[in-house]
Amino acid sequence: MVEETVSPKKTSAPGTVNSLEKRQEPVILKDISLSEDERQTTEIKELDRVLGGGIVPGSLVLVGGDPGIGKSTLLLQVCRNLAGKNVSVLYISGEESLRQIKLRANRIGTFNDRMMLLCETNLETIREVIQRKKPDIVVIDSIQTMFHEEISSAPGSVSQVRESTNILMQIAKGMGISIFIVGHVTKEGNVAGPRVLEHMVDTVLYFEGDRHASYRILRAVKNRFGSTNEIGVFEMRNSGLEEVKNPSEFMLNGKPNGTSGSIVACSMEGTRPILVEIQALVCQSNFGIPRRTAVGTDLNRVNLLMAVLEKKVGVRLAACDAYVNIAGGIKMTEPAIDLGISLAIVSSCKDIIIPDSVLAFGEVGLSGEVRAVSMAGQRVAEAKKLGFQTVILPEVCKGTLGKAEGIGLVYVSQIQEAISYIMRQGDDQGRYRSS
Ligand code: TYD
Ligand code: MG
Repeated sequence: MVEETVSPKKTSAPGTVNSLEKRQEPVILKDISLSEDERQTTEIKELDRVLGGGIVPGSLVLVGGDPGIGKSTLLLQVCRNLAGKNVSVLYISGEESLRQIKLRANRIGTFNDRMMLLCETNLETIREVIQRKKPDIVVIDSIQTMFHEEISSAPGSVSQVRESTNILMQIAKGMGISIFIVGHVTKEGNVAGPRVLEHMVDTVLYFEGDRHASYRILRAVKNRFGSTNEIGVFEMRNSGLEEVKNPSEFMLNGKPNGTSGSIVACSMEGTRPILVEIQALVCQSNFGIPRRTAVGTDLNRVNLLMAVLEKKVGVRLAACDAYVNIAGGIKMTEPAIDLGISLAIVSSCKDIIIPDSVLAFGEVGLSGEVRAVSMAGQRVAEAKKLGFQTVILPEVCKGTLGKAEGIGLVYVSQIQEAISYIMRQGDDQGRYRSS
């Protein structure tokens, strides 16, 4: 249970951004004109992509993520780029001192005099400074440190966070300033504070990825101005976050050669196909109840696929522990990786080595059928670009794909056919040991 104090002042509702005193008239949709250069690009392509093409004036963007993942770094880089384009930027930090920010800024690069810093946590002061300085972009780092005097509860509590966001939204919509808010996440991975926070803002971006690895993935969970499927891939370097231009190549880095239980699959992230290595380890269970874990994908899905393999293909898995991992720390839930997961499990269980030049994608249904996936052509093209020689894909995609040059396509309609194919390949290489 969380105590929530009711503020004495009547909080202004989001609807009062336009004055209600005037008699409101509906407008005709086609009469609303939009200027061409609505969006402000951040000069960081991966971020622009996730934002849907750039920063929309007057938008409120929430950036969430684990501590130390790079939220402050990314936003500072955005500030530098925008200040460089003569956009005035105000960076408000409630967590770090001016000296600390300066130290970080020194690693990132040089800043010009359009970039202002403020260390403040009182929202009334912040509102006053914004009204006086009239910046184009404001960054609030972080919302959990901000407080409003009229609410007695501590900063970071439900009512403080909600009221603070409300005030920031009024500033954003009322003055046409774009505001970036940094939000901490709870252990479960949600932005700490009330769920309404995510409803109030226009865009919610999450940083994910292994904190110990160098790359970071920025994903839009909600976006009023663009698609929510797009991801941006970054790498943490000594000089801040660097864009990763070719994520597939990056994700496949370090893939082991010639081992069983590993295959490359393809998942669409927005408009981009991304290739990842799927690893599986299947071994005899020493306990009554077999252990199953999935990292980077849905465990229920893995259990389902194992049940399909057991029932429809006859692979004995009931007494086996199984660990499935999407290498690279990226989270993938698209059903198109089903075929990859199934083949990795069979490969590990039967100790078949799948050749490195083989890639597989397709959704697996409950009766063991391999179902169609969208944008098969783009996936094949990406596989070709990265030097794969064979793609195992659903039979039903044949119509949409036509003939592909320079890459072998193996169409399968049942999961059994895909398994037979990799077994034959293993036999040819003389590395298939029957178990
Ligand atoms: P930070 O942006 O402070 O994380 P957040 O605001 O999300 O908590 O990221 C800090 C981490 O990034 C820290 O562990 C150090 C690392 N880092 C670099 O590796 N290179 C850099 O140039 C910078 C600025 C930070
Ligand atoms: Mg920070």
